[in-house]
Amino acid sequence: MTEAQFLEGLSYAEDNFKNEQAPHLHVDKKLIRERFNLDGKKILDFGCGMGGMSLWYATNWDCEVHALDIDGHHINVAKKLQEKHQASNVTFEKRDILEKPLTEQYDMVFLNDVAEHIPLAILGQILEQLGYSLTTGGSIFVTYPPWRSPYASHLNHVIKTPWIQFFPKGYVDNLIEKHNHPLVGDLEGDLREAYDGLNHLTHEKISKLAKGAGLKQTYRKSHSIVNRVGPFKNLNLRVFPLDFLVTKEFLELQKA
Ligand SMILES: C[S@@+](CC[C@H](N)C(=O)[O-])C[C@H]1O[C@@H](n2cnc3c(N)ncnc32)[C@H](O)[C@@H]1O
Repeated sequence: MTEAQFLEGLSYAEDNFKNEQAPHLHVDKKLIRERFNLDGKKILDFGCGMGGMSLWYATNWDCEVHALDIDGHHINVAKKLQEKHQASNVTFEKRDILEKPLTEQYDMVFLNDVAEHIPLAILGQILEQLGYSLTTGGSIFVTYPPWRSPYASHLNHVIKTPWIQFFPKGYVDNLIEKHNHPLVGDLEGDLREAYDGLNHLTHEKISKLAKGAGLKQTYRKSHSIVNRVGPFKNLNLRVFPLDFLVTKEFLELQKA
């Protein structure tokens, strides 16, 4: 990673940490604050990326955070962010839990914008292992943009067209080629690889995997673009075909 990419990653992670209104995180942060008191909890931030949310948990509650990611470059940025803010209650680790399984127990496991990036062939195994690592009464909180959502392509910062993932493949491929660029914080990853790596996650798919992993759903919220309109701010919209308007799914899972 070049120095410039590292610094860009650091500034992105800093914004995710400090900015309560960060575009893809403000709903998540509000909901987590409303729903959970993390004081005294041991937390696993699974797929922590460059650590913005890990630092947010660690500094907003009196908790202990174990943050891990499969990508060592993201972890390097996260460690720098931690050093800068001197948060001693968070530990960052590069780890693939399918190679080196978890041995500790957690009260809360967060998968923040991670599940849609994990191949479906292994997502079930990962959920199963996360379930085993929960303390009694512990929860897994998963947030992700469902595949039918307007910006599920993760391309919207360069290609502004909503639902572009449903346009003809050749057309989308050409657009990606034209706008391709290295991803913030990544060594080799680019927009093309990120798009091709998406698993087209839907509620139906993750529910089936969670059930197979011995987990039950204890909460679900579907945040939609309709929630931006005052009177509808608490509407929990997930009725087909309106689920195309859902921008983010929030799912709480516990041991069945
Ligand atoms: C979009 S980022 C989200 C980062 C962070 N959770 C956040 O909210 O800012 C997705 C992250 O998931 C990580 N990831 C993907 N597959 C993983 C796996 N099998 N184990 C751990 N991390 C994984 C990626 O390396 C990447 O850092």
